[in-house]
Amino acid sequence: MKLLWAVSALLLSCWRANASTDPNIITEPPEVTNQTSAILSCNLTEPSLPSKGSHWVHNGKVLEESKSNEAHSYTVLRLDKITHSSGGKYECVFLTDPEAKQTIEVKTLPHVAAYKHSEHGNEKDKGVMVCVSHGYPLPTNWNWHKEEDGVQVPIFNGTSDKYEIRSTPNKTTLTINDLSIENDIGDYICAGTNELGTTTDKIHLRVRSRLAALWPFLGIVAEVIILVTIIFIYEKRRKPDEINDDDDSGSAPLKSNSTANHKDKNVRQRNSN
Ligand SMILES: *[C@@H]1O[C@H](CO)[C@@H](O)[C@H](O)[C@H]1NC(C)=O
Ligand SMILES: *[C@@H]1O[C@H](CO)[C@@H](O)[C@H](O)[C@H]1NC(C)=O
Ligand SMILES: *[C@@H]1O[C@H](CO)[C@@H](O)[C@H](O)[C@H]1NC(C)=O
Repeated sequence: MKLLWAVSALLLSCWRANASTDPNIITEPPEVTNQTSAILSCNLTEPSLPSKGSHWVHNGKVLEESKSNEAHSYTVLRLDKITHSSGGKYECVFLTDPEAKQTIEVKTLPHVAAYKHSEHGNEKDKGVMVCVSHGYPLPTNWNWHKEEDGVQVPIFNGTSDKYEIRSTPNKTTLTINDLSIENDIGDYICAGTNELGTTTDKIHLRVRSRLAALWPFLGIVAEVIILVTIIFIYEKRRKPDEINDDDDSGSAPLKSNSTANHKDKNVRQRNSN
């Protein structure tokens, strides 16, 4: 019987701890969508729960400036300028025993941004373009288009080996295989959609010819050839001088030989002593 009590108490405390939607708290508004500003409020309607204070939590982070030690059963949070970074989950927390809390979701259009607004790839190689998203909620759907004469032509994933799209809620990647200068240069548009709507960004793709990719290498080869030629010509012109040089160096071994001989003699003399 004691065990049963302990287990049920444990289960109850677990349930309490997980409960972020407390029936004793009325939120106003219940949800914020697509607004530039808002006033969030929570009303603890169960007067038998004495509160030692309250605060607000944004995406799991306590908002220090919202902390209050007063035993009010009502708390307000002003959001003056709502952007994708101030959207998310707001929780009001009353310091009752146990804590009572309730969530208000602040939703905005997704913020979509190209990782780089200009990308390039080499002919016959592949081009990779990336867009990321921030905010709440994140896109549930991503689409890619190519702009052709002012018209947006949708790009489908895997219809051929040409295009490959990989998406997660916060990131989408378009890979174009076997790049061609004639067909693939241009502007690509990524579009992220959540329940409030769609936001887009644009990436310009440049394709370099394979020869262009070789230019740096050819440049180095040309440089080496020129250098070798210059050295060769210089050496040829220097030929007369060199003969003198050779004479000098030719006599040097003799000198060193003679000194070596002297040493030899010394050694021998010492030996004989
Ligand atoms: C909070 O809720 C109670 C009970 O519904 C109501 O009487 C009271 O006026 C509310 N307080 C505010 C500030 O809205
Ligand atoms: C696109 O196709 C590839 C391969 O078939 C698959 O792995 C990927 O998940 C697909 N992407 C999307 C966004 O459907
Ligand atoms: C994307 O979302 C996942 C899961 O929600 C998260 O772990 C990851 O850090 C996010 N990546 C970026 C770049 O925001």
